Order: sequence, then C-alpha cells, then structure tokens
Amino acid sequence: MIRKELKDFPDDFLWGASTSAYQVEGAWDEDGKGLSVMDVGNHPEDVTDFKVASDHYHNYKKDVALMAEMGFKTYRFSIAWTRIIPEGTGEINQKGIEFYSNLIDELLKYDIEPLVTMYHFDLPLALQKKGGWENRETVDAFVNYAEVLFDEFGDRVQYWLTINEQNMMILHGDALGLLEGDPDNVKKGLYQSNHHMLVAQSMVFDLCHKKLESAKIGPAPNISTVYPASSKPEDVLAANNYSSIRNWLYLDAAVFGRYNATAWSFMEEKGIIPEIKDGDMEILKAGKPDFIAFNYYTSASVEGDFKDEKKESNYEGDQQVVDNEKGLYRRHQNEHLEKTEFGWEIDPIGFRTTLREIYSRYNLPLIVTENGLGAYDKLEENDKINDNYRIDYLKKHIKQAQLAITDGVELFGYCPWSAIDLVSTHQGINKRYGFIYVNRDEFDLKDMRRIKKKSFHWYKDVIESNGKHL
Ligand code: BG6
Repeated sequence: MIRKELKDFPDDFLWGASTSAYQVEGAWDEDGKGLSVMDVGNHPEDVTDFKVASDHYHNYKKDVALMAEMGFKTYRFSIAWTRIIPEGTGEINQKGIEFYSNLIDELLKYDIEPLVTMYHFDLPLALQKKGGWENRETVDAFVNYAEVLFDEFGDRVQYWLTINEQNMMILHGDALGLLEGDPDNVKKGLYQSNHHMLVAQSMVFDLCHKKLESAKIGPAPNISTVYPASSKPEDVLAANNYSSIRNWLYLDAAVFGRYNATAWSFMEEKGIIPEIKDGDMEILKAGKPDFIAFNYYTSASVEGDFKDEKKESNYEGDQQVVDNEKGLYRRHQNEHLEKTEFGWEIDPIGFRTTLREIYSRYNLPLIVTENGLGAYDKLEENDKINDNYRIDYLKKHIKQAQLAITDGVELFGYCPWSAIDLVSTHQGINKRYGFIYVNRDEFDLKDMRRIKKKSFHWYKDVIESNGKHL
C-alpha cells in the first residue's frame, strides 16, 4: 500500500469533549427545573437514575477548570430544555438561564468555545404528556425554545447543534429509556415524530441564520458505516438498506431537504409513512445546516439472508446493536473486530470510512461530537486510574481522523465522549467514559471528588501538540 504523507490537523482544530445535561448535571429538581422524560423514564433498577449524576450543576466551575487544564478548545454540552422552559412551553425560568449563562462565561474565560446541543433525549415531560414529538405542537415548542436560546446566548455561542442522535431515538428508543411497550406497535408514531423533528430542525436552522449573523448550526446524528457480511449481492443490498434507514434518512433530510428514497420505500412497505403537511417539504428545503456533527462509536455489519430463522431474535436493546428488520437486513457479528467490555465492536478504520462517506455525500465541514469507550475503570491506590484501553481506543480513532483529513475530509473538531464521567443511557455510572473520574458508585455517592485519569494527561498532550503526540 502507498504510504501517504499525513496532513496535520488544522491550526484552529477544535479539540474538546462532550457531555449531555441529564447525564452529567444532577440537580434534577432544583432552581425551578421542570421534569423531563429522563427524570421519570423506564430506567433499569440495577443502576443509578439521573437525579444526582455527576453533580456538574454544583461543580461546573471546578469541572471547567479541569477541562481548561487539559487545554480544551471547545466543550460540547447540552442545555436542559426543562431548566429554561420547565413545562416545555410558556414560562421561562430565569435560574436556568443564569446557570447556562454562567457556564458559558466560565468557558469563555478560558477561551473554550461553547458547542451547544439544544436537545439531548430529555424532552419536557409536560410535552410528552401531550403526545411528545408525535404531536405537531411540539414543533412550535422546539422552535420557541430555540429562539429563547438564541436570544439569551447567541451573543456568546457560535456553534449550535439541534437534536442529538435523532436516529437513535427513532431506532433504539427502548435502549434510551424513551419507549414503553413493544417497539413494533409504536413504529408509525415514531416515524411521525421523526418527521416533526426534521421539520422543527429545519425551522431552527433557518431561524438561527436569520437571528444570528455569524453563528453556525448543524444536526448531530449517530452515523456509522455499514458493512455487508460478505460480497454476496444480498448482503450488499442489506447493507445499503440499513445505511439508508439508519444514516441517510436523517442527513438527506437535514442537508438536501428531502426524504431518502430507500428509507421512504421502507416506510411505505411498513405502512408507517408520516403525515406531511402542505409546506413541510418547503420547510425542509429552506433550512440548511452549516456543518454536520456526528457521533461515532462503532461500525455496523448486516446480512441479507433470512433463511436461517434461528438467528432471528438477537437484539439486546442497545443503541449500537442492529435491530433486525425482516427482509431488509439482519445483524451480523463482525469477526474481524474486537469488542469493548460492553460488547461494542471497536473499529477505528470504520471511523475513517464513515468520515469519508459523510463528506463525499454532503460536502460540508464535519465535527465529531462523540466517540469513546465505556469501561469499568478501577480506582487504584494513590488516586490512579490506568485507563490504557481508553487511550488506545482514542489514539487509534484520532489516527484515522488524521488519515481522513489527509484523504481530503474537512474535519474541524473532535469531541470524544465524555469530558467527565457521567451516567450512561441505560448502564449506569460505572460504565465510564470520562477523562475525569467522578468518585461515586451506582448507589453510593461517596465524595464525588474529581480525579484525573491517565487519559487526562495523555489527551492534554494530544491537544498541546495539535495531534502530533498520540
Ligand atoms: C450516545 C448518546 O448514544 O452514546 C449518549 O448520545 C450516550 O448520550 C453515548 O451516553 C454512550 O452510550 P451509553 O449507552 O454507553 O451511555
């Protein structure tokens, strides 16, 4: 193979890391915050809920100081809708505005660019009670909420993300604690919700450009390259099916303002076509993102042969595991990849392929807003956490990001998951991702002190050297 001369990461590359409000903040009912679906969701009983999480709400200054010590250029966090507008619509909670305003100022004090996700799974419960995203009124509620954010923080926030992992909410709402009951029965409603989210997102793209001259905004789905199990045409077709339904449905709508044809025909076949109101397609066309943010943890592999019925039910309720769609695609175990302790396949080369696929399809600048490895970290003597496995995972992915840049992909930032330990979507606090350890267990809050992991020091050096020391 020809060895390429590697291109450097751009000088202004946005190195940082990510979190989301409900997974890190705690203070679930403080200072006027309303309830979100995550505060009352169907959460597994053997792991912690999100009530205290990493108590970032009360420790944000300490946490931001540690991020600054690592040299972060950006910090991706989400705003809890229910802190700003407790009931989803109506009254604004000044204490919530104050919290995020202070957080933003704290970041700017250290020259850390705030990268703000407007909505990361935690829909206000009041809206859910009225039908959630299935109810068209939630579109207006989201646009109104976005306008409040632009008015309050638009003077200081340059980079905005609309909706985190809309595709995972639709495909794996059960794993994320968003759905109750049999997912098959709720599918029609899901694709209606999906349509409403797409419309709301486009309206918010548009609003952002109208209100804030220099701000940039983009979607934040979870995108993964999809491998066919073999070169058998049926498998290749299955991979194409899955990629259309998992990836391109979301990004084609966000960028091109149209429904992906393969995904549309899937919805048609299943009888789950959403109601599209007059003017909706024009809205989708009008709102344009400035960049694409995406989360990547692993690739996916599928097969198209459904003869062996025994292999049918292998879905484990996890957002990174393919949920089979009969006749279209079925999960395949990729025997070429190692797995994390939690069974997620590790595929750095798939990351490079994913970067290329997105860039060549949409030709927009890209930023990675999640990528990382969840593990049972061990706190050793003298406050040491030797998370070499995390360093190894991130190192390999950053290397592939650099190769993608060398391939011509316009990548302007990298924010692994997560800046600090936080509560995983459905596997508790002990599935850790952070550079900073939070000293608590599932049900014992201990002293919640912050401890720098080995990866903290490693990442500091990566940032300092602009990706030269890996
Ligand atoms: C993504 C989400 O799906 O993956 C995050 O955007 C989540 O909220 C992350 O935490 C890791 O998944 P998990 O299930 O290990 O928390």
